[in-house]
Amino acid sequence: MAQTLALVTLLVHDYDEALDWFVGRLGFVPVEDRPVPEQGKRWVVIAPPGGRPGCRLLLARASTPDQQALVGRQLGGRVGFFLETDDLARDHARWQAAGVRFLEAPRREPYGEVVVFADCYGNRWDLLQPAPGHARATPPSLDGVRSGYDRWAAVYDHDANPLLALEESTLRAALGAVAGLDLLDLGTGTGRHALWAAGAGARVTALDFSEGMLAQARAKPGADRVRFLAHDLRQPLPFADACFDRVVSGLVLEHLEALDGFFAEARRVLRPGGRAVVSAMHPAMCLRGSQARFTDPDSGLVVQPGSVAHSVGAFAMAALRAGFAVRGIGEHAADEALAARVPRAARYVGWPMLVLLDLARPAGFEPATPTFGG
Ligand SMILES: C[S@@+](CC[C@H](N)C(=O)[O-])C[C@H]1O[C@@H](n2cnc3c(N)ncnc32)[C@H](O)[C@@H]1O
Repeated sequence: MAQTLALVTLLVHDYDEALDWFVGRLGFVPVEDRPVPEQGKRWVVIAPPGGRPGCRLLLARASTPDQQALVGRQLGGRVGFFLETDDLARDHARWQAAGVRFLEAPRREPYGEVVVFADCYGNRWDLLQPAPGHARATPPSLDGVRSGYDRWAAVYDHDANPLLALEESTLRAALGAVAGLDLLDLGTGTGRHALWAAGAGARVTALDFSEGMLAQARAKPGADRVRFLAHDLRQPLPFADACFDRVVSGLVLEHLEALDGFFAEARRVLRPGGRAVVSAMHPAMCLRGSQARFTDPDSGLVVQPGSVAHSVGAFAMAALRAGFAVRGIGEHAADEALAARVPRAARYVGWPMLVLLDLARPAGFEPATPTFGG
């Protein structure tokens, strides 16, 4: 028998007030938010950040005087929620700065470090970093990335996604002219960069492991000028050494747990003097509860294919370990102009949304351990 405790109900006074607090302050991720008109309610589900499988919270608006009286007291004053973290000191500092009310100082117990805080209604929560050997949380699951993108494919290009708008101009400006170059696009998706580069005169090869995304790419005008291949980037690239002048990769890194293999392979297939331009959603977006997600048009559900929160330092160090020279690392925020163009950018104005790594394969430098799989 396989059963999972999937949802626990948290009584709230107001959906948006609760979302502001859990998503805005704690960085929880909105998973579902859809109207239930026949009951005059919304079905609102949130989850802790980090993409780990586990129990989610259903935010239920109290609709009777009895229920309203229980908001914040549904567990009789006991600690009712146990939130595991991989770094209690980090979360404690961040949340204190965000005005979260802690009811004690962090303390060390045999099972780990723990501190109790109150949510916006007064419910008590344990924030817990388990001691080695006591961890119950499982690592982030990336199992759903491929199938998630297969489902996303049909609407991916129509999402009015502000990150894509910001990324497109930034990456292409960094890449410069590509006419006459051999260019490889890693995680091409629906072929956004690949088709543009082919139109700009590059000889383009483009890889992705989602057949759904590739099918969209192959159906677009100009697709016959691109070699689209199905390939899982967690495996070595199916190319000889030094056969491309440029590697591009747009918004893929959050879906890869191990970065070393990705960068080592990107560097291996570049000719000496070649360049890689790699973009990623900025890790600061995780603090706003953002990770790759879409609303499935069939079910109306918000789907998160699965993401890992890497740091900018982790990107840079993986590139350096692979033997790249770093020409530049840009951190790019949304601005008013972007918000005017893509309204969903308005809530991120001034906030870093994008990291761009501009890398070069130096002629003559070989990394000490050019191995795949790190
Ligand atoms: C956010 S989309 C970006 C697509 C495209 N680069 C763009 O910028 O529009 C991420 C893409 O990475 C692909 N992807 C994620 N993990 C992958 C893996 N292990 N191997 C190959 N492709 C992967 C997904 O299928 C998806 O198409």
